[in-house]
Amino acid sequence: MTERTAKWIFWVGTLSSLVLFLALTFDTHGQFAALTNADKLDEQVVAGKRAFERHNCNDCHTILGFGGYYAPDLTRVWTRLGEDSIKRRLRSPEVAFADSYRKMPQQNLSAQEIDDITGYLEWVSAIENNDWPPQHSERRWKRSTERLMAGAVLSPGAALVNQEDCLSCHALGERGERKGPRLEWIAARRDARWIADYLVDPQAVAPGSEMPASDHLSVEQRQMIGEFIASLDRRGGGDS
Ligand code: HEC
Ligand code: HEC
Repeated sequence: MTERTAKWIFWVGTLSSLVLFLALTFDTHGQFAALTNADKLDEQVVAGKRAFERHNCNDCHTILGFGGYYAPDLTRVWTRLGEDSIKRRLRSPEVAFADSYRKMPQQNLSAQEIDDITGYLEWVSAIENNDWPPQHSERRWKRSTERLMAGAVLSPGAALVNQEDCLSCHALGERGERKGPRLEWIAARRDARWIADYLVDPQAVAPGSEMPASDHLSVEQRQMIGEFIASLDRRGGGDS
């Protein structure tokens, strides 16, 4: 290769990459409002972000990759934990994380700050960031649950979950509400036995949460619910 050819390759390669880079950057910037749901950026979200900064939450936590690596990433925390669970943790971290190896300090947040921060975390969780982080992907949870529920007759545990109104607080596949954790997220960490026991007296494990006791259910019924929820773990559901 002559020196002249090498220069040509260098300049054509560099300039075309630069043009492509600028075009893609420009294109992405044009989509920011839609990707971040700018129309939902209300006063509460802004106040929540200010409170988040005031209390230096990201000394320990990351959101969208920014912050400290000491504590869980909060980008999708609203999708996996839901509103009441988040508020309980902010209200009394010393109770909620009493058994944890890593502690979250009591920040003495006001009720207003807790509402605002939760609103902010809800808004952050809806940002379209190509489904990151992947282990908290709501899209995949929905897909694997819909696959599990498709076709076959509902298992007795699934029927009980419907009947007992668990979905008035918990998300499952495409359905449910966001007061408590998404059932697929529970499945990834808890087994059937643990869940069956939890249902008898949720306050014993999560004092101050809104979850009512299901002590009217028989041991068998609780076990069936536990087995159904544990089966939602996508590692078990065949989704890699
Ligand atoms: C000194 C470090 C530290 C600070 C500051 C801190 N946290 Fe935490 N936080 C933690 C740790 C550690 C955990 C995880 C405890 C566990 O689950 O073992 C946690 C957990 C959480 C969780 C639950 C996450 C999950 O996925 O289970 C939320 C929500 C949360 N923190 C929000 C906040 C907010 C909001 C602030 C600021 C007001 C804040 N944190 C400040 C250390 C911190
Ligand atoms: C009124 C709302 C509400 C209802 C109804 C409800 N839950 Fe909950 N549930 C919650 C909340 C909130 C939490 C989170 C507690 C906390 O802060 O850790 C929770 C936690 C749980 C957990 C423990 C999650 C974990 O990993 O720590 C399980 C299991 C569970 N719920 C199952 C059920 C089942 C099954 C039903 C129906 C029989 C049900 N819940 C009905 C609100 C509710």
